[in-house]
Amino acid sequence: MNKLGVNIDHVATLRQARHGYEPDPVWAAVQAQLGGADLITVHLREDRRHIQDRDVERLRETVTVPLNLEMAAVNEIVAIALRLRPAMVTLVPEKRTEVTTEGGLNVATGWRRLRGVVRRFHRYGIAVSAFIDAERRQVLAARRLGCAICEIHTGPYANAARRSKQQAELEKIRTAGEEVLNLGMQFNAGHGLNYQNVTPVASLPGIEELHIGHAIISRAVFIGLRRAVAEMKAAMVRA
Ligand code: PXP
Repeated sequence: MNKLGVNIDHVATLRQARHGYEPDPVWAAVQAQLGGADLITVHLREDRRHIQDRDVERLRETVTVPLNLEMAAVNEIVAIALRLRPAMVTLVPEKRTEVTTEGGLNVATGWRRLRGVVRRFHRYGIAVSAFIDAERRQVLAARRLGCAICEIHTGPYANAARRSKQQAELEKIRTAGEEVLNLGMQFNAGHGLNYQNVTPVASLPGIEELHIGHAIISRAVFIGLRRAVAEMKAAMVRA
């Protein structure tokens, strides 16, 4: 059975809306673990729009499943990752103006610069995953870079408007996954996966981990809202 990495960034997004202390992503991580999450993922963005440095520190102390830190390969964040030593880092491209990660990391053109970063992580025993588009040249470059893991971007599959386009995108992920496995790397996938579109991706041969955030946090709101209102009502009734 493949593993589920739960991305809890959006719990911090909600907290940052008020710059307060709740909801706490560390509590979310514990709940996700109790629900069966095999990994916890957070993205420490350069603009700190959701997850903060202190969250990563506290998660590192609390979470007992592997912690996966999504990050841009920039000096400041690399230094933080080397200090906190998550089990795994996932290298992603990052743009200030995007609402979420938009495309895979272009390792095919940037691999010379990235090689040093990957080596440093390996020296500290941190596994490195490259978040890449489902393209052969990117898979080959990730291998050249020394990554042991590739996370294939499932966004184009998830966002496909027509069924035929979705099938074509799924086929690209399958082919890329086969190449990842043939080159001896671990095949992960993620982005835009939800309760409706996850099954075909989870069924791909050799796939190891799925990384999912938005759909799970969105669902959690609706699973929990009725009870949250009932608890508030009960507090008022008691008054
Ligand atoms: N994988 C990577 C590399 C991501 O950047 C993200 C979004 O933070 C995800 C997976 C999860 O995507 P989603 O929130 O759409 O499930």
